[in-house]
Amino acid sequence: MPAPLIAPSILSADFAHLADEAAAVTGSDWLHVDVMDAHFVPNLTLGLPVVESLLRATDIPLDCHLMIEDPDRWAPPYAEAGAHNVTVHAEAAHDPRGIAKDLRAAGALAGLSVKPNTPLEDWLEVLRDYDTLLVMSVEPGFGGQSFMPEVLEKVRTARRLVDTGHLQVLVEIDGGISADTVEQAAEAGVDCFVAGSAVYGADDPGRAVAALRQQAAGVSPHRTSATRE
Ligand code: DX5
Ligand code: ZN
Repeated sequence: MPAPLIAPSILSADFAHLADEAAAVTGSDWLHVDVMDAHFVPNLTLGLPVVESLLRATDIPLDCHLMIEDPDRWAPPYAEAGAHNVTVHAEAAHDPRGIAKDLRAAGALAGLSVKPNTPLEDWLEVLRDYDTLLVMSVEPGFGGQSFMPEVLEKVRTARRLVDTGHLQVLVEIDGGISADTVEQAAEAGVDCFVAGSAVYGADDPGRAVAALRQQAAGVSPHRTSATRE
């Protein structure tokens, strides 16, 4: 297993100082950017212009999580702008395969996300065209919610399929990840951990990232990667 990746979510950061907030988590693997349109989810955050500015403000690869309707139309520009990974919601996509193709053609990884009540089984075929799977462990829309352990079954299924060569995706989890929950997610087989309030609510966000990574790495199947600091 590769080292666990930690992706702080700037949803819990100070939006008036995003460049500084990105600099506060310099050691992060990805910077998670939650794009919400007040339609797919009942909250509104930021869009492409802010992402373009962030791309100029930080070297951390951007992990754009699009909680928006009609990602077929709106997702590719995030990839064209230079986002590292662009994730769309399975529930919102009209032509998920077409989206993956467009994202990859624009040079990004293609990510597919499933809400807590969306069965993974319905999307296994489509996932063959994707690079990352984002399992939501809260209902999307807000930071600071409680982790839903029942979604770990989906993580286990995905992990098994990846480990047996039936699927090639990086398994990412988003929602309620903290010092209390990161180990159970790691045990289930998560590769990349998104954490908003646990990072930006900490006195030292950079330290919180390192601590989460160390905790995740200390748990099987990531046991061998504790040296990454
Ligand atoms: C929720 C967002 C998450 C959020 C996680 O819809 O997708 O990325 O920022 O925040 P925490 O880690 O506080 O649950
Ligand atoms: Zn997110």
